[in-house]
Amino acid sequence: MTPGADQPATPARLASLVAQHARTSRLLGVGFVPVYRAPGMHANPARSEPPASTSAASTIVEAKEVGRRADAPVAPLAPEIRVLASMPPVVAKGEAPTRERAQRLLDELRQRYEREAPHAPFIQSFTNIVFGEGDPQARLMFIGEAPGEQEDLTGRPFVGRAGDLLQRMITAMGLTRESVYIANVLKVRPPNNATPTLEEAEASAPFLYEQIDIVRPEAIVTLGLPATRLILRSTSSMSSLRGLWASFNTPSGHAVPVMPTYHPAFLLRAYTTENRAKVWSDLLKVVERLGLKPAPRPGAEPTE
Ligand code: URA
Repeated sequence: MTPGADQPATPARLASLVAQHARTSRLLGVGFVPVYRAPGMHANPARSEPPASTSAASTIVEAKEVGRRADAPVAPLAPEIRVLASMPPVVAKGEAPTRERAQRLLDELRQRYEREAPHAPFIQSFTNIVFGEGDPQARLMFIGEAPGEQEDLTGRPFVGRAGDLLQRMITAMGLTRESVYIANVLKVRPPNNATPTLEEAEASAPFLYEQIDIVRPEAIVTLGLPATRLILRSTSSMSSLRGLWASFNTPSGHAVPVMPTYHPAFLLRAYTTENRAKVWSDLLKVVERLGLKPAPRPGAEPTE
């Protein structure tokens, strides 16, 4: 008899069985399991109100290798990188939204996030949702891990100590904070700033993918391991992934170049010349790719 088959099939029990099945499948090498939520079905069975939107949303369960939409073009990828499955795209393929439309789509996405609350099964205690902010048509997008204390209090990403350092990195690249878009893997602060689990990250991932699709940046910088692993679908170490261009395919099939680098919080903890040089060399690749003019660095020889 199947273990536990005599237990009542409650939503929580079914969810646990599905997760268990996905974990086993993953061990057996199965790529991905897209789960389409039927209209009216809520991500968190404990919550009673149905989502206002009837558009189908999908969750990726325990994906290691991820499949792709049948009609999505195949982009050249590094060997271990797979194209992502995600929610049905809100941005039509080929269509570049205007700034106003992109902002509206982001606002609507945020409202959908608030309704669906994919964090609810994992995180109940937080002050503000930190959805992301910046230019809805930014050329460059930064993706961090999760809000910390200051971000939780203000509802804005990267406003604490790590944010100060990120700000300096952005300025050094010749950009302003307002001209980029900043998002996180998790949109609410995990208790004790815990590193996001795979399940937590996967639950919120479709919203991050949609953010990327709407902003459609020319490049993404992933900051630290959780963001890098989620975007690249890789289990490799940060030291082996950082500094190498990779690619992310948005839900509507746009390939976006990705540059992984160390998280500013890591850099603050290990503020060595070597680590700073590594991050700066990663960022310089982005500067070069986007044709930016980096700000003169204190102590650097003038170049002209
Ligand atoms: N660290 C992150 O990863 N994101 C934030 O928003 C702040 C700190």
